[in-house]
Parts: sequence; structure tokens; C-alpha cells
Amino acid sequence: MSLSIGNKIVKLITTDSTNNYAKTQIGAENWPEGTIIQAEYQTQGKGQIGNSWESEAGKNLLCSIVLTPHFLPILNQFLISKIVALSVAQVVGSFVGEVSIKWPNDIYVGEKKIAGILIENSLMGHRIEHSIAGIGLNINQERFLSAAPNPVSLFQLTGKNHPIEVLLNQFADQLSFWYEKLSSGQTSMIDTRYTEQLFRRGQPARYQDHEGEFEGILLGVNEIGQLLIQDSQQKIKSYHFKEVVFLPQHDLTKRHII
Ligand code: BTN
Repeated sequence: MSLSIGNKIVKLITTDSTNNYAKTQIGAENWPEGTIIQAEYQTQGKGQIGNSWESEAGKNLLCSIVLTPHFLPILNQFLISKIVALSVAQVVGSFVGEVSIKWPNDIYVGEKKIAGILIENSLMGHRIEHSIAGIGLNINQERFLSAAPNPVSLFQLTGKNHPIEVLLNQFADQLSFWYEKLSSGQTSMIDTRYTEQLFRRGQPARYQDHEGEFEGILLGVNEIGQLLIQDSQQKIKSYHFKEVVFLPQHDLTKRHII
């Protein structure tokens, strides 16, 4: 039987972080798998690597999905990132073009970030006990105030407000589809679609790692979700999160014009 994501939605006006709320309540509540915790406002919205997540009250989608993928070996946990990113990208892509997934799981429109994903897994031996998939999707916010480098919202891109609930339902349908593929072992379809949508895939671009700046071509990811970039000597380098920086694309264009 396939799992329906979002059959139960817990709506909160304010919380510190929907991910934190899910993590602290999961033991006490008898939530069915696929329960979504949604908030209008977060006082301490969390981004990746200790960053905060900016979201004006009532303007955007802020939610966490509670999954219990006991069938998934820890080594394959990046598949959860892939299906959540694919689901958000499909929702955004139904409104605007040029949608891509910036490794590991930022959702971009052109060169701007419209959504971020924070997945927190708790482990049980070699398996995943719970996976809390937090999503911040910028929908109706008109201005961003934080130091985040390149945020954008659907409002800014389309000039219109969009009902948050409609996008949440669309997302839940997409994730139900992809979660079914994951639980039934159809992972090559997930891998292919994720790779196809990767930001800058197949294009020469500038990157920076611990050895310095270099030009390379992003190829995809390996089984454990490390990013693979081929450098100009045809060497394939692999990176964990934060071991490589995507340099602005205009640097490369300028260098070529000169
Ligand atoms: C990123 O840095 O790109 C990840 C951002 C994730 C933000 C969402 S908002 C809902 C959920 N609760 C949180 O505290 N963070 C995630």
C-alpha cells in the first residue's frame, strides 16, 4: 500500500522550528507516517550548517514531514534528500521555468534560491528510525532582509500571491509519488531525475575547494550523495557538503570574454 503524505497536518501559528517541534513531539504523539507539521512563523527557523532561515509571518510554506523509512540503509539516506528536492522542484516548476536543484538540496530558479531543505535523521543501528524533512519555500514574501545571498519568492517571480495550502497539497502529492518509488526500490528513476535537474550539470563552471579555485564540470553525485566534479585534467573529484563552493558564474564568462 502506498503512503499518503499529509493525511494528517498539524498546524501551528508559531513555533521555534517545525523540525525541532517534530523531533521533540515525535515520541509523545502517535503521528502516522507522513504527518506534516506546518507553521505560520518560526522564531528560530533553522537552515543548513547552523544558519537561520528567514520567513515573514504567514507568507511562506514552513513545514516538516515525519517519515519512518525503516527499510532504508543509512548508506542510502541521501535518497531522502533527492525525493524531497524533486518534489519541491516539481511544485515550483509548475509556476516558473529554469528550476533546478543546487546540490545537495537547494531549489533554485535561475541563479536564485527559492527553497531550502533541512533533513534530520535519527538512526537505529544501520537503519533510519525517523527522518524529519523540513522545507522552507518562499511563496508570498516581497522583500528579504537577512544576509542570505540570493533569496527569491514566487511572488517576486510571478507578481502574484499564491495560496500556501494549495502548494502544500501539491507538494504532498509529489512526495507521496516519490516516496512510493523509494519504498518499492525504484531508485534508479529517482537518481536519474535528480541528476537531470542538478544546477550547472554538464556546464563548465568555477569552483573552489581546499586546494583553491578551479574550473570543472559538475557530473552528478555518487551513491552516498557526494558531489562529483570533473576538473580540467579530467580528474573526477568528490565532495561532501561544504567541501566545495560554487563560484559565481559571471566570473567564468568574464574570464572567457577577456
Ligand atoms: C537551508 O538552509 O537551505 C535549509 C532551510 C530549511 C528551512 C526549513 S523551514 C521549515 C523547517 N524548520 C526549520 O527550522 N527549518 C526547516
